[in-house]
This record gives sequence, C-alpha cells and structure tokens, in this order.
Amino acid sequence: MPKPVRKAVFPVAGLGTRFLPATRAVPKELVPVLDRPVLQWVVEEAKEAGIEEFIFVTARGKEAIADHFDAHPELEQTLAARGKDDLLKAVRAAAIPAGKAIYVRQDAPKGLGHAIACAAAVVGDEPFAVLLPDMLMRAEPGCLTGMMDRYAQTGGNIIAVEEVPREEVHRYGVVALDENAPEALRITAMVEKPPVEEAPSNLIISGRYILQPDIFDHLAQTTPGAGGEIQITDAMQRALTAGAPYHAWRFTGETFDCGVKLGFLLANFAFGLADAETAPALRAYAERLLRD
Ligand code: UTP
Repeated sequence: MPKPVRKAVFPVAGLGTRFLPATRAVPKELVPVLDRPVLQWVVEEAKEAGIEEFIFVTARGKEAIADHFDAHPELEQTLAARGKDDLLKAVRAAAIPAGKAIYVRQDAPKGLGHAIACAAAVVGDEPFAVLLPDMLMRAEPGCLTGMMDRYAQTGGNIIAVEEVPREEVHRYGVVALDENAPEALRITAMVEKPPVEEAPSNLIISGRYILQPDIFDHLAQTTPGAGGEIQITDAMQRALTAGAPYHAWRFTGETFDCGVKLGFLLANFAFGLADAETAPALRAYAERLLRD
C-alpha cells in the first residue's frame, strides 16, 4: 500500500487579474457559486476524498479566506436562537476543525510552483494533494476521490487530465502519454502553455495533483518559465526526467474555471440548475430568454 495522502495544498495567493474589478478586495477564491465560495466547494471535494489537513498558501489582502473556514460562535448562537437549523448546519459544515487549517504566506505572486514550494515545511516528507481552488470540478464521486482510488493502485504521482479542443492547449499544462501502453496512462512528458503546433496532445492538466515530496527538491531547482513564473509543470517534468513515476487520471466530469467571468457564470448556471430551490425559476428564465 502506498503511503496515505492526508494533506492538501490550496494555492490562494494569486492576484486574480483576469476577474478584475471583482477581485480588488474579494479574493477570487471566495466568489460564490450558488450559496458558497468556490473555494469551499473545492475544500469539500478534498474532505470527501479523506484529506485531514488543509494547507492554504495565502497572501496579503486575503485574510477573509481564514475567516471563512473558522468557527463563528456568535453567528451560530443567533441562528440557533432563531431556530434556523438548516442554516446552522450549513455554517457548521463550512468550518475546518481546530488545528486542521494551516495558513502559510507567499511573499509575492511568483507562480503556482513557487506557491506550492511555500508549503514544503508544512507538508514535510509525505505525499500530498494539490487542488487549484478556482477550478470547480463537478463529478460524483469528486475528482480527488477518483484520483485517490487510482493512487491506491499505482502509488507515485497522479495528475488529473482532460481533453480540450486543440486550439486551446496553449493556455494550459499539457501531457504526453506512453503510446505503447495507452491503458496504463503513463505520462512521458509535460509542458506548460506550449504553442498549439508544439503541444504533445490535447490532454491538459486540469487542476488536481497527488504528488510525492521529492517535488520540493525539484521546485527548488526550477527557474521561471512560461509567463516569467515558477511553474509546477516544469518541476514535475524535472522529477519525471529523474525517474519519478507519473500517471494521468482522466477526469470526465465538468470543469469550470471560476477565475474568469464566463467560467464563473457557467458554474452558477449549472449549479443553479442542479439545486431544487433555484432550478425551476432559473430554467423558466432561461427558456424565456431563448424564446424571445
Ligand atoms: P492562476 O494563474 O489561475 O491565478 O493560478 P492568478 O494568477 O490569481 O490569476 P490571474 O491570471 O491573475 O487572473 C491558479 C491558482 O494558483 C494561485 C492562484 O491564487 C490560483 O488559485 N497562485 C497563482 C498562487 O497562489 N500564487 C501564484 O504566484 C500564482
């Protein structure tokens, strides 16, 4: 049995420039989808997968994230006194148990790889998950749960991937798979934001990772890459070249990039249509728009 994955890292220190002005004061990870911040949906995905410790790589101006996952006794007392049991349950479910949420700071937005490296001391010498908190990945069971099942069989490193139209690959990390044994889903190369004509496939890295701690040594050696940022994809490629096993896990649910306007709107639409309270009115409104 591979060593269990107990910890997850949530990099939340980015500037969210693609969603300005919404993100001037509100971290993009806290924009709501239906009735809770996108980051809470992603934390719930991690909880479902068995994660016990939640490490947030945060930055100046993002203090509301820690407040969101804290206990809120005054609010709970008020809701209890008013008999609002459903809301009380929802408020309690959002909290992370005492001592299980850990916040570390990134000094400047130097890239996703740099953010993950900031969690090294807290992760220590054990495998860990990384969840990009603005990527809402909708599936039952959740994406990380599926990856954990695969990890139990293969150990090593597992990367969630999904297909996109080829002309979109330049916006993502892209993987190449071992073509001699396609069903093994063994990754043979990874490249960040390649030009379309140089991309090894149309399988992109979609925002969920299970990594071994040797990645921190490779991150320490990684120089700025695409966009002048320290890229996790470059560090993983280094680890792969050094012989570390990397497997893909094909995600077949729906992904919403809530760090941009359209993804955020689509996520709210999809989650609203799946919610018993909002679905009928939302559907009627959409039908009326299509008719007129
Ligand atoms: P993104 O590139 O989507 O986030 O990184 P960003 O940089 O905030 O967004 P834009 O491009 O300016 O609109 C994915 C995740 O990694 C975090 C972000 O907070 C986001 O959740 N991140 C990114 C960091 O924590 N530190 C960084 O230096 C960069």
